[in-house]
Parts: sequence; C-alpha cells; structure tokens
Amino acid sequence: MAAGKLVFAVNGERFEVTEVDPSTTLLEFLRTRSRFTGPKLGCGEGGCGACVVFLSKYDPVSGQVNGSSVSSCLTLLCNINLCSVTTTEGLGNSKDGFHSIHQRFAGFHASQCGFCTPGMCMSLFSALNNADNTNRPEPPRGFSKIKKYEAEKAISGNLCRCTGFRPIADVCKSFAADVDLEDLGFNIFWEKPEDANVERLPPYNQHKVCTFPEFLKCEINSSMNTLKSFKDNGAPECHWYRPASFEELYELLNSSEFIESHVKMVVGNTMSGVYKEINLYDKYISLTGIPELSIIERNNKGFTFGAAVTISKAIEVLKERDGNVLNSDGELVFGKIAEHMDKVATPFVRNMASLGGNLIMAQRYQFPSDIATILLAAGSTVCLQMASERLILSLEEFLEGPPYDDRTILISIHIPYWSSASISSSGTSKYNIIFETYRAAPRPLGNAVSYLNSAFLAHVASDKSSGDIVLLKLHLAFGAYGTEHAIRARKVENFLVGKILTVSVLIEAIKLLKEIIIPKEGTSHPRYRTSLAVAFLFKFFQPLAKDLAQVEKNNFHIPGVILSSKQLVEFSTEYFPVGKPIKKVAAEIQASGEALYVDDIPSSKDCLYGAFIYSTRPFAHIKGITFNSSLVSRKVVAYISINDIPEGGKNVGSGYTFGDEPLFADSLTEYSGQCLGIVVAETQRYANMAAKQAVVHYSTEGLEPPILSVEDAVRRSSFFDIPPSLYPAKVGDLAKGMDEADHKILSAEVKLESEHYFYMETQAAFAIPDEDNCIVVYSSNQYPEGTQFVIARCLGIPQHNVRVITRRVGGGFGGKAFRSSPIATACALTAFKLQRPIKMYLDRNTDMVMVGGRHPMKITYSVGFKSDGKITALYLNILINAGISEDCSPLIPGPVITCLEKYNWGALAFDIKVCKTNLTSKSSMRAPGYLQGSYIAEAIIERVASFLSLDVDVVKKRNMHTYESLKLFYGSISGEAPEYTLPAIVDELFTSASYFNRLEMVLHFNNCNKWRKRGISWVPIVYDVQPNPTPGKVSILNDGSIVVEVGGIEIGQGLWTKVKQMTAFGLEQLWDEGRKDLLDRVRIIQADTLSLVQGGPTAGSSKSEASCEAVRLACSILVSRLKPLKQRLEEQMGSISWDTLITQANLQYVNLSASTFWVADNTSTYLNYGAAISEVEIDVLTGATTILRADLTYDCGQSLSPAVDLGQIEGSFVQGIGFFVDEKLEENSDGLVISDGTWTYKIPSIDTIPKNFNIRVMNSGHHKDRVLSSKASGEPPLLLAASVHSAIRKAIRAARADFSSTDPNDSSVSSFQFDPPAIMPLVKELCGLDTVEKYLEAHGEV
Ligand SMILES: Cc1cc2nc3c(=O)[nH]c(=O)nc-3n(C[C@H](O)[C@H](O)[C@H](O)COP(=O)(O)OP(=O)(O)OC[C@H]3O[C@@H](n4cnc5c(N)ncnc54)[C@H](O)[C@@H]3O)c2cc1C
Ligand code: FES
Ligand code: FES
Repeated sequence: MAAGKLVFAVNGERFEVTEVDPSTTLLEFLRTRSRFTGPKLGCGEGGCGACVVFLSKYDPVSGQVNGSSVSSCLTLLCNINLCSVTTTEGLGNSKDGFHSIHQRFAGFHASQCGFCTPGMCMSLFSALNNADNTNRPEPPRGFSKIKKYEAEKAISGNLCRCTGFRPIADVCKSFAADVDLEDLGFNIFWEKPEDANVERLPPYNQHKVCTFPEFLKCEINSSMNTLKSFKDNGAPECHWYRPASFEELYELLNSSEFIESHVKMVVGNTMSGVYKEINLYDKYISLTGIPELSIIERNNKGFTFGAAVTISKAIEVLKERDGNVLNSDGELVFGKIAEHMDKVATPFVRNMASLGGNLIMAQRYQFPSDIATILLAAGSTVCLQMASERLILSLEEFLEGPPYDDRTILISIHIPYWSSASISSSGTSKYNIIFETYRAAPRPLGNAVSYLNSAFLAHVASDKSSGDIVLLKLHLAFGAYGTEHAIRARKVENFLVGKILTVSVLIEAIKLLKEIIIPKEGTSHPRYRTSLAVAFLFKFFQPLAKDLAQVEKNNFHIPGVILSSKQLVEFSTEYFPVGKPIKKVAAEIQASGEALYVDDIPSSKDCLYGAFIYSTRPFAHIKGITFNSSLVSRKVVAYISINDIPEGGKNVGSGYTFGDEPLFADSLTEYSGQCLGIVVAETQRYANMAAKQAVVHYSTEGLEPPILSVEDAVRRSSFFDIPPSLYPAKVGDLAKGMDEADHKILSAEVKLESEHYFYMETQAAFAIPDEDNCIVVYSSNQYPEGTQFVIARCLGIPQHNVRVITRRVGGGFGGKAFRSSPIATACALTAFKLQRPIKMYLDRNTDMVMVGGRHPMKITYSVGFKSDGKITALYLNILINAGISEDCSPLIPGPVITCLEKYNWGALAFDIKVCKTNLTSKSSMRAPGYLQGSYIAEAIIERVASFLSLDVDVVKKRNMHTYESLKLFYGSISGEAPEYTLPAIVDELFTSASYFNRLEMVLHFNNCNKWRKRGISWVPIVYDVQPNPTPGKVSILNDGSIVVEVGGIEIGQGLWTKVKQMTAFGLEQLWDEGRKDLLDRVRIIQADTLSLVQGGPTAGSSKSEASCEAVRLACSILVSRLKPLKQRLEEQMGSISWDTLITQANLQYVNLSASTFWVADNTSTYLNYGAAISEVEIDVLTGATTILRADLTYDCGQSLSPAVDLGQIEGSFVQGIGFFVDEKLEENSDGLVISDGTWTYKIPSIDTIPKNFNIRVMNSGHHKDRVLSSKASGEPPLLLAASVHSAIRKAIRAARADFSSTDPNDSSVSSFQFDPPAIMPLVKELCGLDTVEKYLEAHGEV
C-alpha cells in the first residue's frame, strides 16, 4: 500500500481517501462523505454517545480481529487507516433486514425521537460483542454471553432526553441469559409477563454481523511489509505523520519544516472533547506507531503500561487474575485501580483514550484527572523521553514539574506491586495493605468528572501490646478539587504514620487536611469539595479507628443499576386499532440510522455552512468584529450581518402573538448570547471554529448597567404586558381568608432556576434558494408555520415564497417551537444572499448559550392557615424572568396558577410580573409554568407543615380538593364529579406502592444508619390541557395507499403513531379485509407549510389528539363520499376489496382527498390527574442521591396508543428528575451561559433514574368531549418528579435531625430553603458540611 492514502472499510464497503484534512474526524467523514447517516452529532465532545460506531482492527500476525465502540466525533479519520467501521446501518437495515437490536428497540418502545438510538444500538452491540468474545460457556439459544449487570451498563455513556432509559435498559437486558424475561417491561412480543419467552424475541445471532471484511484482511496481509508508517499529503497546509520510532519522531520534530509549524501530537485525540479546538493545526503526529508506547509488561514488580495503551485495555489487564505472579493484596490494589478506571469517562471514550494522554493532560493542562490521583496513591512512576534523554520520575515529581513542552514524550507508566508479606522493622507484626479509591461525581457510573477524587494506600499493623491498629505507611492522594494537579497530603501522612488511629488522632488529621485541600479561586463549591476530602478520609479510616470501627459497620452500601420495574397499562379496544399498544412508527429505521433528520439530508455540492457569532456581553455597543489571523479564519467564505437583510425585509428572527425578536443585534447588543453575525465556510466545523475566532469589540460607554435579575427588573420597572385575558383569576376573599387563619407565614421565598432544553439534536436548518425569489427551508421545528412567517418578513417576500419542511425532530421539548426560528431564518437569509444552499447545525455549546430555556422565577408568598394545617389564604408575588423578548412569556402566568391550584388554598390572590431582562429569551419548555406552579404549591405545603411540626402528608391531604372546591378553582373544566379521579388515584397508589409500610421502613432505616438517610414522599398533580386548532388532510392514492398530513410535528412523542391508528380507525368501515393491513397502508408525511396551512405550534401536549381529531374528521368526509359507492358496488358485485373500491372511485371521479381544520370548543379543555411516590437515599458524606423507587399513576383517559403514552409518562418524569435533581444551569456575571455542554450540564442518565420504576397508566373511561375519550400524556407527568425533590428534603431533614446540636424538633432542623435542583453540593451543604467533624467530636467525648 502506497503512502499518502488512507484505506478503511465502512459497513463492508472499501473507502480510499487520498486527500483529507487530517483534522477531519471520523464522524465528519461519515456524515459528509459517506451515505451513512446512523452516527449522529449530539455534542462533539465525547459526552453523549450519539456518534458511537464500532471500530475493528485486524492483527495480521495472529489473524485476530478486535473491535470496540468509539466516539466517532473524537476519532480522527487518519487514525483509522486499515480499520473497519461498523455503523448501525451495518448491523442491519430496511433493505437487508434489521438486526435484532433494532427490532428490540422498536418492540420494547425504546426509541422516541430516535436521535440517540443509533448510538445506543452501537454501544449495546459493542457490549454484546465483548461478551461473546469471552471464553464463557455458550449461552442458551437466542441469548448473548452478556451478563445482566453488564447489559445494564452497556449504554452507561449514552444520553437520551426522551425515553427515561427504562425501556432501553430492558432492550439491553433482553440479551442476557441470566435475566428473568418476565421482569422485562411492556413490549410487543408478549402481552402478559407469563408469556415471556426468548423464542418470541427477534432472534439474536452473535455471528450475524461481519465487522471486518475479508478484502481488507487480504490487503493488510499482502502489504504487511510496507505498512511501517502512514504519511499523508493531505490538504496543502496540513499533514499527518505516524513515526514508527523515537528516532523518526525526533527527526520530524527537528526538521525545519516542523519547527515553524503548529503541530499536534495525538494518540486517541479525546482531549479535543475536553478542550475544544478553535483553530487548525499545520501538522499532526500520531504516536500510535511507536511500539514502545504500546507495551504492557507484568511481572513481580508490578505493571508497566506504554503511554499509548488505552484505558480500556489497562482495565482489562489489571482485572486479569494471575495467581502465579501476584498474591491477593497486589491484586487488590490493581483491581481497585481498574474499578475506578471503569468510571472514567465512558466506554466509548475509554476505548480510545490513552493512559499517557490522560496524564499529560493532567500535567500540562491541569485536567482534573482521576487516573493521576489513583496512580499517585499507588506509588507509580513514569518514564519520559526528552530529546535523547530518558528520565524516570515518580508520578508526584512528574505532576509537580512545570508543564512539559510537546517535545517531551511520556513513554510508560509503572504501577508497583504492593505486598503485605513483609515484617516491619518497628517490631510490629506483619502489616497489611489497604487501598481504596473514591470519587464524588454527579453520575455514579462515570461520564462526569468528579468534584473531588481521592485514593489512599495504607500499610497497617496491629500493635503488639494493645492490639490497636498502627499506621506504618500512607499515601493519601487527592485530585480534581480545583487544584493544579493531584497531590499527596504529605502533612497528614506524616502526622498519621506511626500513630494508633484514635478518634482524636483522626480529628487532628482532618484539621490538617482542611488546611491542604483548598480549591483555587474561582472553583465552584469550594467548601463542599474540602468537605468531600474530609468525608473520604473518614470513610477510609473509620473501619480502622479505635472506638469507631464497631459503631458503623456495613454502612456504605451502594445500590446497583436498575433493580426492576413494572408497567400496568389499561387499554381499551373500543376504537380499535386506536388504543392498541403498537410499536412507534419508524422505530426500526430510527434504530438503523435510516430515519432522516435535517442534518442527514444530503448537501448539494455547492452547499456552504453557517455558524453564529454571538455576544458575550449583556448590554454594550458593538464597535466592530474582526477575525484572528488564524488558519481557520482563512476558511471564511462570507460573513452575513444585519446589513445583508434585503430591502423590504426586516430584522426579525422570531415572533409570536406578543411581539418580534430581532435576528441580529444592531449596533447594540442586548444580551449575552445574542446573534451578531453569521460566519460562512465550506464545512460546518470550519464555520464553527471561525465563529469562535471572531473578536468582538465592545464599549459600554454611556450605557446603563444591564438588567440581569428579576430584582433589577423590578427596580427599573422593566416588564412585559400580560394581556388581561391571559391574567389568571383570583379566588375568594384574601383578607377574609387571612383573618380566619390561626397562623401566618409572611414573605417566604421560593426560587426556581432555568433549565436547558438539551434535545439531542441541536437546532438545525438547511435552506435552498428556489426559482422566482422562493426559498425552501428544512428545519428541525415544532412550529414551521411561525417560522415561515418570520422568514418571509425577514426576506421581505410573500409568505407563499417560503416553504418550510419538517419531517421529524430529534427532540424539541418546546425549544423548537419559537426558538428554532432564528436558526431557520439566519439560514434562509444567508442562502438568499449567497444564492447557495446553506446548512446550519448548531454546535452544542452555541445551542446552549443562545437558545434560552425554561423561565426562572422568584416567588414571595404569604400564607395563612389553621392549626390543623388547613390553609385559608395564600398570596403570591411572582416574578417571571422572561429574558429579552416576549416570546410566549405572557402566556406563562396562567399555567403557573392553574397547577398551583391543585390544592384548596381557601382564598388565592397574586401579583404576577413578567420581567424583561438582558438575558436570552426564555421560552416554552415542557410543562412551561405548570412545572413551576405545581412545585410552588408543594413548597408552600412543606413550609406550613414544618411551621406546625405536622406531618406533611397530613397537610397535603387536608388541603386536597373536594369536587366542590375543585369547581370553585377550575370552573367548568373540572367536568362532572366522577371525572375528578385524583383522590382515587392517590388512594390506589398508597396501596399499590405500600406507602405506609415503607414510611415505617424508612424511619427504621434512618434510625439504624448515620451516613445514609432515606426519604419517601408523594405528590398529586392537576394539569389543564386545551387542544389547539389543527388541520388534517387524508388522501387516498390510486393503488389504495393512504397519505396523511397533519399540523402536528413528530418530535418523538409518537404523534405519527397515534395519527396512523386514528386514520385506520376512521376509514375502517370502508375496509373489509382485516384492520392490520389498513394500518400498513397509511403513511404520515412531513409537514410542509405550503401543502397544509395553519399548522400551528406542536406544543401543550395536545397536538397529537388534535391532529388525530382533524384526521378523524377528514376520514369521515372520505367515508361519506365512498360509503354510497361501496354500497352500490356491493349490491352489484357482493363484497368488494379496498383496492377495487379505490379503483372504482377513481374511475368515477370521487374526490379522494379530504382536508379539515379542527377547532376545539370550550368543552374541549379538561383536567389531567396523576400522583407519584418516590423514595430516595442520600449519602450524607457526599450529598449524592439515589432514587430507590418511584411509583406513578397517571390518568390517561382511554389512551390512543398506550405504549406511546407509557413512554411519554416515563420520559417526562425522568426529564422532571433532571429539573429537580441534576440540571444546574449556570451563567457568569454577564448572564452568559457557562453550563454549555455535556461537561458542565448533567441531564439524567441510566444510572440516575429510579432503581425501581413502576408506572400505572390508568384508563378513566369513556368521555364524550375528549378526542375518543383520550387524555394528554406528554407534559403533565413531568410535574410528578417533584416527589423526588420532596423525598430528598425529607432525607435531608433526617440527616439534620441526627447531626443537630439543638433539639431535633427545632424549626431550623426541619425548615430550610431547598430550591431545585438538588445537586450534590446543595444536599451535602444542607445535611452539614461538617457532619464528620461533629460526629467525631461526639465520639471523642465518649
Ligand atoms: C467525555 C470525556 C470524559 C472524560 N472523563 C474523564 C474522567 O472522568 N476522569 C479522567 O481522569 N479523565 C477523563 N477524561 C479524559 C480522558 O481520560 C483523556 O481525554 C484521555 O485519556 C486522553 O488520551 P488520548 O489518547 O485521547 O490523548 P490525546 O487527546 O491524543 O492527547 C492528549 C494530549 O496529550 C498529548 N499526548 C498524548 N500522549 C502523549 C505521550 N505519550 N507523550 C506526550 N504527549 C502525549 C497530546 O499531544 C495531547 O496534548 C475524559 C475525556 C472525555 C473526552
Ligand atoms: S457526538 Fe460524539 S459523544 Fe456526543
Ligand atoms: S429517543 Fe433518545 S433522545 Fe430522543
């Protein structure tokens, strides 16, 4: 094989690349230069798993093929020379047949928007492949060799924003023979758990997929001798080199060409996921060709790993047992290191990431490495190559040195073998080795850097005379807490060595430790991080300390991944096939990667790509924008700004009933994140990089300070109007209610923060200029009609010149209702101006900075109540932070109050202000306002209960509505008395979830455990839904196939599935041949604003039912046209087939297309009810929360599609967990979002969902005013996640009571400000950052 070309296979196809920019990633190549669309771009930083592919390598000497999952967004294309790539299409597809992984994703209802699904499939495939390549016994037919615990962890690095993970876990587990199939959830393969049988599952065949094609093996075999190195000419200014020895490496580095160049050395290139590249390099050097860097040696001195050995390989080797070389102590240390490494990053990152790369990042860039910390404690050394010199240093010396330049190569890492079989010189008996590692991170299984990590190695012996434990040698390593590098706490070590470990010694050690572990300035949660160091030190020494060892035993248990779950789904056949739990439309092609999202649409050859330059200042004059003279800036093809808006056009980027928002800042930027201009380049990556290279010159001269909070807005009277018709109505007489109260709480506060949408598919648009001043825009959009209107106004052309097309959306959650307009409009404007197709696919960071999110709120309330907990009056002052523009914000007060009204407050009054601030515009986000309202109600009830020292359950129950009070608060939408199902739901849930028993058990647990506390709590919800007007069109084609268009957009919520079922139901009377086939004849097609007008926004949970109703009406028109013909034909011919009917109808010119526009009337608004019980366990030492169990009952009416609704309920609840527990949106002092990626913003993952997750989808029966008696499911269940927050509050209360120095009944113990999200630092802070010290002091006194 000649040098200068790159050969590899993708799904068995040969690719030969002779010209490539070496900075090209595998993902970029697959997505832009191959036909495969399976690998998706979700984050570009290794943190989401959407891009996962399976990478196989062939060893011509052994003839073996080894493969593993990798994140293709970080893998450089040049690094895969002679490798084979398998994407999800390569597992199977619609042409060759789907893989059983695809089929099971579809059958277990584990794909909603589908954007994460290809990556999930590949992670699972990789885990199955790993297991099947072990020498474990052959599994029973239909199963893999994978074990249940491995299956559950298979997708631990993959994120999904829709499903709630439970069904995905079921898919993974369905391949494990040690799983009881009956425990798997709701699926299409069996109706009852008793019928569960592997024979019913799509068969798994471990040999089905060929991951390495023979032709590539032959090519490799035949060119073995010439395969020494790969040098590519690449793009003129970029080169890729793979030296085969140090000599070659230094020859390159010393050449004049290199000295002048901007060179990047790489192994796995995963660092680019951590530190984003905003410029290009001249040259790349891959270190993977130097054999010394890949050695693995194991002997009786320990392990030596070449620096290029991947973390996964190191884990595998460290876990291997070899009784001949090591005794159990040595294995213990290596085993613990491997266990800890298993939590570093994700499987698909570890498979590429090298040990050496990690340590260099720690040394050179102060990366908060786990590996540096654990290897430091294990006494490791490193071997360095500095030009011609080789150096062996202790890891500590290595880390402490000044950052090494990039000519210093880390060759290897040695981890010594620790043995306990020696006799100490101090006269004590033989010592033992103890080694432990710890990390406190938001996700237990990894994919999150830690707040602090630590590892401790101790030699301990028992004192001959007293038998007490003496510490002989200690390595105490701490890292990632806001330190330059991992450190040894030498002072503490020196203090402890030689001492008998008593409580007072430990107290002293902790004092010393606190002087050492001081996070550097600017580190978040500094006191928390210091307290973690104390906690881990305590955790390590507690079992050894005199007087403590016996007190707390087995206290630190960590529950497993997912224990079990149950789904009870009640459904009805009244409107069959509506109501049947069918699999989601297009689920298989979503899994196989064939389903097309905007960025999957092939670009035409002259397509260009756009990226936003955004403001980083909240309120400033823009004095100018310049570009750095960087390599990437030379790639800029055009720059589009406000000046490019055509004559007659308007500077508008989005707009809704209440007002417009400009597309560009004019000469004044009004918020951080505002669009200043668009950079256009030949690839999306160049455009993104170049946009980040732009230098914006600001001036704040003569300007007032920006308004960055609702308090500022009040001071400066900066408000948006709320139209009177949208201002909610007060209830009762507040003054009278307050008079009746026995007690009052005045001016209490609740603060609610914003939340990112974090849809897996970021905002995307593709605009193509069309003839006669027209434009076609493909947009990932929940409101194409609105976007069409905005584009037309921006371009100054009639709306009929603008066609906006949306097929499917990779997650919206409200963020693509109004917030997708600016992207589509920018794209359209650029295409219009340049008269070339333009794509814009926002990188994750830009998306999170610019797009806004949920409305933050500040609530101040006064509440009056009786001594028995009955509330008599509530007054609220609600400040809603709307950001810079109205968007839909004036609509928000209504939902806040509606959901707050779930309790009977006696009298209710409020003052609500929608504040205009210099922040990104906040918009509708799943359950907008409703979520906040429902939570505020719970917070008030909690506060009243703790004021009265009453059980919060008593106060809740006392204030729940009777049907009469419900009517008072909700008026006619309350419906008839039997429709108020909430009390029955709550009672049933108490029984089914054994609430009262578990209350006792929680109490018992808390009495027995000091460091783990549990809490259990429940919340009810009431949620009003009003279906929006929606069009529908049903057309029957010549061959009898049916095509349906609706106003609603498929955003993952299963709208197409419901519409398909409804179409089959609507036409059923014309069909004699069995209903299944009729379903197969229906296709729902993309929304097109020129084909179906007045589509309206897909929002408010009701678009599915509205679309269904529109379609049902359209079908009835068709039925009315075809029925007479059918009867006539039947009279002539007897029974006739559908095809004959349609042929005849065509011949007789019957109009076979019917359109409707369904407008809901007043009776269409209805209330939704549900309740949830959640039980949590918190770790008092770290603040980590484990959700042990959640039980939900949700009234879904007569579900239109029960599997879809179940998925919505689960997914919504888990998204709610994100809001209440995990997701902390942070801004800097300029209001610029800094939680702008997967590193800094943690949505729920498989390891943070409830371990036991039980759902009942209740059918409250027939109802004439609802669409086929159904109810919405998309948003209301999100509110139920408040039960998790409430349970955490109880657990914290239990901890505070335990550690309180005052009376545990004191109000300071039970009453505390605890606003969501309940992230680890907050939980620990509320439990007490000094609990360990308090505990030790108490024991020291004994
Ligand atoms: C999503 C994600 C999550 C992560 N989470 C964690 C975590 O929880 N804990 C943790 O500890 N780490 C974490 N990491 C860091 C990860 O371990 C490192 O990115 C990885 O080990 C770097 O290895 P690499 O081969 O990809 O290095 P590269 O990216 O190829 O190189 C990194 C740097 O090291 C230099 N370099 C590489 N090898 C050598 C060598 N032998 N000699 C001299 N210089 C060299 C390169 O020039 C470059 O400057 C995470 C990374 C990602 C992407
Ligand atoms: S896109 Fe590669 S991990 Fe997210
Ligand atoms: S289905 Fe997983 S992100 Fe939508």
